[in-house]
Amino acid sequence: RVSGGAWLLGYPLLPLNLSLLPQCILTGKWKNDLDSNMTIRNVTDKGEFSGIYYTAVTAGGSSPKESPLVGYQHLSEEPTFGFTVNWTFSDSITVFTGQCFIDEGKEVLKTMWLLRAHADNITSDWKATLVGINVFTRLPSQK
Ligand SMILES: *[C@@H]1O[C@H](CO)[C@@H](O)[C@H](O)[C@H]1NC(C)=O
Ligand SMILES: *[C@@H]1O[C@H](CO)[C@@H](O)[C@H](O)[C@H]1NC(C)=O
Ligand SMILES: *[C@@H]1O[C@H](CO)[C@@H](O)[C@H](O)[C@H]1NC(C)=O
Ligand SMILES: *[C@@H]1O[C@H](CO)[C@@H](O)[C@H](O)[C@H]1NC(C)=O
Repeated sequence: RVSGGAWLLGYPLLPLNLSLLPQCILTGKWKNDLDSNMTIRNVTDKGEFSGIYYTAVTAGGSSPKESPLVGYQHLSEEPTFGFTVNWTFSDSITVFTGQCFIDEGKEVLKTMWLLRAHADNITSDWKATLVGINVFTRLPSQK
């Protein structure tokens, strides 16, 4: 394995080929404990990324939906990161924050999220935010 820092500096965009990726570069496919998954595209040399979140659960119980996400990660060992998901099927927004750990050789994303639902008016503001925890693991790449 090539040492992370020097390797990262040489490339403006990191390749999608997972076999070449250092651990905890978020590029790729991830699945969580609720069977939702997300695909994160190339992470830039500044740690910016975008992707798609496929949720298996929605407040209304409707079928799985895909929504765009954008975020940042630090480019360090076991980096912290954060991203925002713009739910396409509702007025809600979720922000995730977390850290990538290498646990017994496998990457695991430990995250917490806040979901902001649309309140009809300011009187309902107090009950418009939900909080939760999700754990993601990497899905093998598929061609
Ligand atoms: C991701 O990076 C790889 C390797 O640098 C490049 O071939 C590919 O076009 C990039 N994909 C996007 C969406 O930028
Ligand atoms: C990702 O999640 C969506 C929604 O639950 C599902 O339809 C899709 O099959 C999942 N993809 C993978 C690779 O697990
Ligand atoms: C965010 O979601 C709304 C629909 O809920 C959509 O109209 C808008 O284009 C989305 N924004 C982005 C950047 O995808
Ligand atoms: C605020 O919205 C709630 C839920 O829709 C509604 O029950 C309530 O009457 C509204 N209050 C005002 C002041 O509009």
